[in-house]
Amino acid sequence: MKSLQWLGLPSLSLSAAVFYGCLLPSAEAKSSVISPKFVILSMFSDEGGSWYGIPEFNVLEKNYTLPGLSPVYPDLHCTADGEICQLTTGEGESNAAVSVATLAFSPLFNFTQTYFMIAGIAGINPKVASVGSVTFARYAVHVGLQYEIDAREIPKNWTTGYFAQDSEQPGQFPGALYGTEVYEVNEALRQKAFAVAKTAKLSDSPDSTPLRANYSKNPEYKAGSEAANVYLCDTATSDTYWDGDLLGVAFEGTVSVFTGGKGVYCSTQQEDNATLQALLRAAIANRVDFSRIIIMRTASDFDREFPGQSVVASLLGPEPGYDDSIANIHIAGVKIVEMVLDGWESEFKKGIQATNYVGDVFGSLGGKPDFIPKATSKRRGYSRRR
Ligand SMILES: *[C@@H]1O[C@H](CO)[C@@H](O)[C@H](O)[C@H]1NC(C)=O
Ligand SMILES: *[C@@H]1O[C@H](CO)[C@@H](O)[C@H](O)[C@H]1NC(C)=O
Ligand SMILES: *[C@@H]1O[C@H](CO)[C@@H](O)[C@H](O)[C@H]1NC(C)=O
Ligand SMILES: *[C@@H]1O[C@H](CO)[C@@H](O)[C@H](O)[C@H]1NC(C)=O
Repeated sequence: MKSLQWLGLPSLSLSAAVFYGCLLPSAEAKSSVISPKFVILSMFSDEGGSWYGIPEFNVLEKNYTLPGLSPVYPDLHCTADGEICQLTTGEGESNAAVSVATLAFSPLFNFTQTYFMIAGIAGINPKVASVGSVTFARYAVHVGLQYEIDAREIPKNWTTGYFAQDSEQPGQFPGALYGTEVYEVNEALRQKAFAVAKTAKLSDSPDSTPLRANYSKNPEYKAGSEAANVYLCDTATSDTYWDGDLLGVAFEGTVSVFTGGKGVYCSTQQEDNATLQALLRAAIANRVDFSRIIIMRTASDFDREFPGQSVVASLLGPEPGYDDSIANIHIAGVKIVEMVLDGWESEFKKGIQATNYVGDVFGSLGGKPDFIPKATSKRRGYSRRR
């Protein structure tokens, strides 16, 4: 256990301090509460490592061991002044949901003005971007949260075995919602993040050139054959790590259907809707501001095969864009951290007014989701048909 010099209680273990903190008179407890301006959320060690040993700031100056975080990544890392913190959540939906909830509900922190940036790598749709690219999502869609029947057993006129819960076939909006299907984040903040990330000089190794050349054989994959760049496009979550054109096209469809045709599927990952669910619950409890969330995913590998390649080879094959995707988390992401800290007093402390709907499919934070098709919105909340 790390000692807690910051509480002036160097000899206490953290769990004792948490307990003690609950019993402290509130004025004293408040003075020890840390209010970070920026929290970076990484999912595994290489993503976290992108932020260590960098020239701009040192998040390894203070470590806070929080009971409830992943046993593999038990510490929240922060700069000495507590302004910038970084957490590695562990991979997959459950790790992300539990670690982020643990952090967001910790009484040791005040996150009401904190900017949270999901900063991880992802698979990439070659119709939208290439490996090494940096993407910013407005919509995070949980494509794994659906009915599935094995593709070998689907009706003749279906193109996929995935279809929304309480719907009758692919292409229909879910009839029953769990609430974690779609999240929408602050578009004005996304545009600002995109604009500063565009000023970064991305890492883009020539090792990716032969792979990109193979994608150029399909004109639909023109973007995939080009150099790394910065994009505005949406992200899809599932615990299942999928690959291949058929699932790629199926999930392009899911993202489109779940967002009322507004979302553009480009990046694929295993955590974001879980992370957003944890932050949403903390926002309902007034512990975080849901309009201060940025979803940045950098592209490590393609989500589907190039013409002539087998899907298994695509999934298991070399990932020449991997190192660039890790490097670009810091290269593009640090511009966003600096934007928020440098502009804190003038702009970011009070927040960037969202002009779009922000929140989940239920409208839990108020407002009405702008992506639910009118014809189906009445069916929201129906119980599962069984
Ligand atoms: C914080 O933890 C990291 C490893 O996770 C370590 O390298 C660093 O030295 C620690 N910092 C302090 C102040 O103990
Ligand atoms: C958290 O910080 C905000 C902004 O400084 C402040 O208004 C609020 O009272 C703080 N909340 C707690 C519980 O300390
Ligand atoms: C498949 O065919 C059935 C029967 O003709 C039809 O009702 C259904 O809409 C079709 N579904 C798709 C996805 O084309
Ligand atoms: C590109 O495709 C060719 C032909 O299928 C293959 O031999 C080669 O290994 C591929 N290159 C990469 C980097 O995947």
